[in-house]
Amino acid sequence: MNRIEALYSFISENDKVVDVGCDQAKLSIMLAKRGQSSIASDISENVIKKAKETINNELIDLRVSNGLSNIKEGEADTLVLAGMGTHTILDILNNTKLRFNKIITISNNDHDLLRTKMNDLNYMIDSELIIKENDKYYNLIVFMPGNKKYSEYEISFGLNHKDKELYEEYLDYLKNKYLSIQKESNNSNKKINYLLSLLNENWFFYWNIV
Ligand SMILES: C[S@@+](CC[C@H](N)C(=O)[O-])C[C@H]1O[C@@H](n2cnc3c(N)ncnc32)[C@H](O)[C@@H]1O
Repeated sequence: MNRIEALYSFISENDKVVDVGCDQAKLSIMLAKRGQSSIASDISENVIKKAKETINNELIDLRVSNGLSNIKEGEADTLVLAGMGTHTILDILNNTKLRFNKIITISNNDHDLLRTKMNDLNYMIDSELIIKENDKYYNLIVFMPGNKKYSEYEISFGLNHKDKELYEEYLDYLKNKYLSIQKESNNSNKKINYLLSLLNENWFFYWNIV
């Protein structure tokens, strides 16, 4: 499953979707194939102009919009924010009064910060999915309205992962990556040491219950 297919798999047929930062509007094209309308927006006039040249489908509402600035109350209940950094995602949400029943993110970085700040904005994690596309891992997170107390491990590595096998593979990948950073930094990188300790604690716990 690639990133767009993964986003699609979390959308129900009656969701009113806005895909912010849509680029080529691939998600909206998939939704339109099953007869579902959606808004596909992007900050770039050029991106929307190009998309309008290639896509001519009355189910796809292509719009220029900086974040949610050009989306009106009631137009969408499901927000997709994919292929952007955590800071952009948080800026977009901090600059709107709109609320959503579901927010699906694929952020490129700082997933711990995203989980923490989304909780502060009163969006809690429903589920997560690790996606592997072209040998690269991506974190998809589905948020819903609410608030949760997370453990430190959950803030760093997520919870309720839908593909457990790929999640274990991803943790393995992270552990090796952190070990090599730890070695290069001569143990001086505190954040990496902390993340490794969380991973080791969890594995110790895991191996003692199976
Ligand atoms: C890497 S593309 C991701 C495209 C698609 N969502 C995906 O996941 O494959 C990021 C897109 O986000 C758009 N973008 C960046 N900041 C934005 C903002 N504040 N509001 C709307 N779109 C934004 C960019 O113009 C670009 O088209």
